[in-house]
Amino acid sequence: MMAKKEDLIVGLDIGTTKVCVIVAAPNGDSIDIIGIGTHPSRGLRKGVVVDIDATVHSIKQAVEEAELMADCEISSVYAGIAGSHIRAFNSHGVVAVKDREVAPGDVKRVIDAAKAVSIPMDREVIHVIPQEFIIDDQDGIREPLASAEACLAEDERDLGVCLIDIGGGTTDVAVYSEGSIKHTSVLGLGGAHVSNDIAVGLRTPFEEAERVKKKFGVAAARFLGSDDVISVPSVGGRRPREVSRKLLCEIIEPRVDEILTLARQSLVKEGLEDQIPSGVVLTGGCSALEGVPDLAEEIFETPVRIGIPCRVGGLQDVVRGPMYATGVGLVLFGASQDR
Ligand SMILES: Nc1ncnc2c1ncn2[C@@H]1O[C@H](COP(=O)(O)OP(=O)(O)OP(=O)(O)O)[C@@H](O)[C@H]1O
Ligand SMILES: [Mg+2]
Repeated sequence: MMAKKEDLIVGLDIGTTKVCVIVAAPNGDSIDIIGIGTHPSRGLRKGVVVDIDATVHSIKQAVEEAELMADCEISSVYAGIAGSHIRAFNSHGVVAVKDREVAPGDVKRVIDAAKAVSIPMDREVIHVIPQEFIIDDQDGIREPLASAEACLAEDERDLGVCLIDIGGGTTDVAVYSEGSIKHTSVLGLGGAHVSNDIAVGLRTPFEEAERVKKKFGVAAARFLGSDDVISVPSVGGRRPREVSRKLLCEIIEPRVDEILTLARQSLVKEGLEDQIPSGVVLTGGCSALEGVPDLAEEIFETPVRIGIPCRVGGLQDVVRGPMYATGVGLVLFGASQDR
């Protein structure tokens, strides 16, 4: 049976390594995932589109796959925008409330007031996330935040938590405290850089580097239980070589360390390093690399866990990976907008 088109919520995550489409249908108070499509992403560098035709092709393929699985036709999506060209900043708006009661129009006016900030000519405001509404100096009236909805618990966001999404080409950092977002930053580094280091270090094609990273890689050589020897194909038709797994991990470690250290530095710069008592939650495909949470615990000196998309039903098993957090988050954002 074809699902009712108008009710469907579709999240489109255009990453540097994969395009992911998640189709969901409301089911009472919850949301069921009914389809998912992923396709290798082409045409993006560091989260920025450099070849539009290639990107469009990747999106079409992922959309088709998701439509087939969900038996539906996709006509609109909630898409995420990220990358090194996106900046977030905080701004305030103040308005007077005419009647004794706050009307929806007042909320809109205060957001418009906050939006009226001067930004450079080559930039535009694409999204406004209300953090907090203060009435008569009474704070604590909050709008639910949709973005990290997929993986963060409400109490974590209240207490203070740092979400780090380590993707293929970028790493996104977000700090939540008192229930709302306090800081975001994007680093132009991710799992693809780790693979590239392996390709260069072991003189093997990039695809092979990806494969050995996922199969044998550990974030730091000291987390390795026992050392084995692995066979790595060479380039230019040479014979495969035997390499110690320890060597592989020694190539991986400096890059993962660099990514996590830069993420921490972005918190230190904002004076937020002591404001995350709930610790760090890791998402993105690269957080599935063995030992990444352990290395992050050493660097951040705080508890670290992997964020698995929750709060959805249906085919949730298919999206139970940290690489689907953004896609599921977009679906949840879409659902919160529909209400
Ligand atoms: N099991 C695994 N072990 C190690 N690394 C993995 C694993 N699965 C995926 N990765 C790595 O995760 C990265 C892709 O992550 P993800 O799918 O979150 O990226 P993306 O959303 O396409 O990119 P970005 O968010 O940077 O635009 C790749 O570098 C890939 O090698
Ligand atoms: Mg991503």
